[in-house]
Amino acid sequence: MTGNKAIGNSPAAGKDDTFTSPTSPVAPSSPPAPAAAASPKAASPGAAPSAPATEPAATEPSSGLLSAQHWAHAADLPVDEGDTGEDGDSALGDDQASSTASITSSILKYRTINGRTYHSESGNSQHWTPNDDVHLESMDINHHLLLLSLKEKLFLAPLDKDIERVVDIGTGTGIWAIDFGDEFPSAEVIGTDISPIQPSWVPPNVKFEIEDCTQPWTLPSDHFDYVHMRQLFGSIDNWDALFAEAYRACKPGGWIESYEASPRMESDHVPETENLAIHEWGKFFIEGGKKLDRTFSIIDDNLQVKGIEKAGFTKINTWDFKAPIGSWPKDARLREIGRYAQAALEQDYEGYVLAMASLQGWTKEEVYVYCAHLRREIRSGKYCPFYRQRVVWAQKPE
Ligand SMILES: C[S@@+](CC[C@H](N)C(=O)[O-])C[C@H]1O[C@@H](n2cnc3c(N)ncnc32)[C@H](O)[C@@H]1O
Repeated sequence: MTGNKAIGNSPAAGKDDTFTSPTSPVAPSSPPAPAAAASPKAASPGAAPSAPATEPAATEPSSGLLSAQHWAHAADLPVDEGDTGEDGDSALGDDQASSTASITSSILKYRTINGRTYHSESGNSQHWTPNDDVHLESMDINHHLLLLSLKEKLFLAPLDKDIERVVDIGTGTGIWAIDFGDEFPSAEVIGTDISPIQPSWVPPNVKFEIEDCTQPWTLPSDHFDYVHMRQLFGSIDNWDALFAEAYRACKPGGWIESYEASPRMESDHVPETENLAIHEWGKFFIEGGKKLDRTFSIIDDNLQVKGIEKAGFTKINTWDFKAPIGSWPKDARLREIGRYAQAALEQDYEGYVLAMASLQGWTKEEVYVYCAHLRREIRSGKYCPFYRQRVVWAQKPE
């Protein structure tokens, strides 16, 4: 299993560590105010070794993932003990040819795997979640919980009110770009993605372009006041190259902001050695990312800070926090975030993990059995899971 690394470089680190107790309400961690720059430079997170999994070797592949058979047998175990029965829903230039080279009419020829549609595998682009309506709904719920996490802010960088040009890389349903366009009506906002899944009815200052961000971008140099990218985990083969492109596209004095999450569901309440479905979740992504050569260990490996610094950005700030999953926190704001995190999963547990589990040889049916266990654990409210999140923002020197 992948190393379980501690995160301790944010202005809020330490404070955050306390909220995970469901029995001791604490003040929710707050994002720093955009105007108030936090630490001038982030340090690398320190590493702590993780506990080894305890499943017998015969049923356990080298990835540390429990086998599908484990969950088939576990179906008879009283995993629903403590299940509240609560429905989660209720909670709720030369370069010009490069990044578009893979973009032809074939972008509309989606792949259908296990009954779900995925972006067609073209050029260098690859994405691991379905692009059908079921999953897009989940992405939009996810946007809401990310907004709540940032206390209704769309960004943390200290942006000017008269900001002119903005790009959102890997925009998904475009919901962030649309919200940003509404908040800054005089700014021109571009959202790019490999999948044409954005709506056509959008504010007049927002537009979407098909672009593969893992290739040299077609976007102009020294052009944008703000480059935003969120949750590109598992899609990027070279994070340094991504940030180098962002640096090129950014105006001198402009800002970059990168928001990523750990794929692991962690808990301060149950040891990782316990064979729980929540503990298995992250392994699918970490192992799948290795197979695709598109890592999910962005936070554990501190790739945002490293890449942003290497690209040449300065005034690097980080904010780390934990987003709860489920309505277990005592604190009202965290409980609301947790409800939305659960709702995003309830909308499409299978869609998130199907492709990654298939890479491990799992069948759709095996994935559904595993997801049933995970759903019960999360609904039970007993295990208090959370995801670690990291926002990094920095400026291109004037
Ligand atoms: C997890 S979603 C996040 C969407 C959006 N950033 C948000 O936070 O709501 C990741 C998005 O990245 C897009 N993506 C994946 N690989 C990409 C690539 N090579 N170039 C551009 N977009 C990509 C996917 O199509 C998907 O819409």
